[in-house]
Amino acid sequence: MNIIFVSSEVYPFQKHGGLADISASLPKTLSQKGLQIKTILPLYEDDGFQNAYQLFKTKTIQFGQESIETSYYTYTFENHDYIFVKNSLLSALDPNETFLTFVMFNVCVLSILKDLGHPVDLIHINDWHTSFIPFLLDSMFRPLDPFYENIKTLLTIHNLERQGQFDRQFETYLPYKNFTYILNGHINFLKTGIMRANYINTVSRTYKQEILLRFYGFDLDSALKARQDHLEGILNGFDHHLYDPTTSKTLHINYDLDTYEKGKAFNKTKFLESLGLKDDTLPLMLFNGRLGRQKGIDIMKSSLEEALSNASINLVIVGEGEAKYEAYFKELERKYKDHVHFFEGFDQTFSEKAYAASDFFLLPSLFEPSGLNHLIAMRYGSLPIVRETGGLKDTVFSKGPKHNGFTFINYDDQEFQDVFLEAISYYYEKNPLFHEKITHAMQVTSHLDDMAENYIHLYDKVMNEE
Ligand code: GLC
Repeated sequence: MNIIFVSSEVYPFQKHGGLADISASLPKTLSQKGLQIKTILPLYEDDGFQNAYQLFKTKTIQFGQESIETSYYTYTFENHDYIFVKNSLLSALDPNETFLTFVMFNVCVLSILKDLGHPVDLIHINDWHTSFIPFLLDSMFRPLDPFYENIKTLLTIHNLERQGQFDRQFETYLPYKNFTYILNGHINFLKTGIMRANYINTVSRTYKQEILLRFYGFDLDSALKARQDHLEGILNGFDHHLYDPTTSKTLHINYDLDTYEKGKAFNKTKFLESLGLKDDTLPLMLFNGRLGRQKGIDIMKSSLEEALSNASINLVIVGEGEAKYEAYFKELERKYKDHVHFFEGFDQTFSEKAYAASDFFLLPSLFEPSGLNHLIAMRYGSLPIVRETGGLKDTVFSKGPKHNGFTFINYDDQEFQDVFLEAISYYYEKNPLFHEKITHAMQVTSHLDDMAENYIHLYDKVMNEE
């Protein structure tokens, strides 16, 4: 089976959020398992690796009245083959894209497949940026060339909120008019993918159920309901060889289930020292992720400020995103400089140190398709404080035999505060259940390998469907 994986962001070439991590780890793991799989992604201007890329082909890509010079580059990284698409539209992965930026990228992806020297069985697309591919296949490519006739498509939804909505004036570019790409009077990329891909999946079981409801559906619940027979939920996995507190070279000392108390304490002391934060007896709270509304920052604010004003926690934030949240955390850092550190951006090494040093991991999301960083945090013995939604609900439990963190139900400041304070009291009172939770958390499964196996089954299912 020959698979093409397409994504708008892949770590370390470009990263805005978790999509980049999965787009890096999943295809790589699948190739290690013997699948023939290549990744196609845009080449943005700020890509720091581009000097190493090899020019593969240059083409003039036609679309409607437009034509654009496009260069394709190849690069093999960690034994996986990448194809980068470069043209004047794809300057950056920014929120001000036009209709043409990504529809053209989709045309460019389909246009290069025949030059790869092998047939293509399945195109695995991800999120809105790549969701026009099934429509373009049907309308522009299959009718003209038997090469494309039997190619199947699988759409993975990592983010349902961002859909790629554009004015209907752009319809003039399309080969024909069709209701599948219209939602609420706009051209909608994600809806197009949902309606036309052979199969769809999202990144956890609970989220798969949630998105059929109005609250979580972002107006796409009807389209998803129409496709529910072809909708699956596959939980994201993390690389437990890479993120391993017993062997990682990044940590000050390694630790395991028996030695975590000492190990984490030592890592915390060193980490706080390196950041200039005071008092390593306080619980260290960590937020690590995209700074967006989705992540529940709004309902944490009052609890964080109260705890900081009476100096009962330290707080480290890692991430970037919406300007208002960046400004908020900068201000918090300025106001409580002995207790708050804001690391702007994403960095694997820094994150790992933070996971090992932290006692709690904050992710009280409004919605969370899967979540990935909380799993890594758990592996390092940092207990998640999360809302019961999406992948968080599938992996974090406050009660029962597998209890491994702190959870609450409703998106509400007060409910968050109750579990936040409960978590802090577990820490100070050295509650015996605290030890139990940490032990369970460190044994978190959800590994990359499980995720990859699930995708292999899904690929088979898609290929064997009529
Ligand atoms: C998005 C989702 C997150 C998921 C990631 C990768 O960032 O918000 O829940 O883990 O994509 O699938």
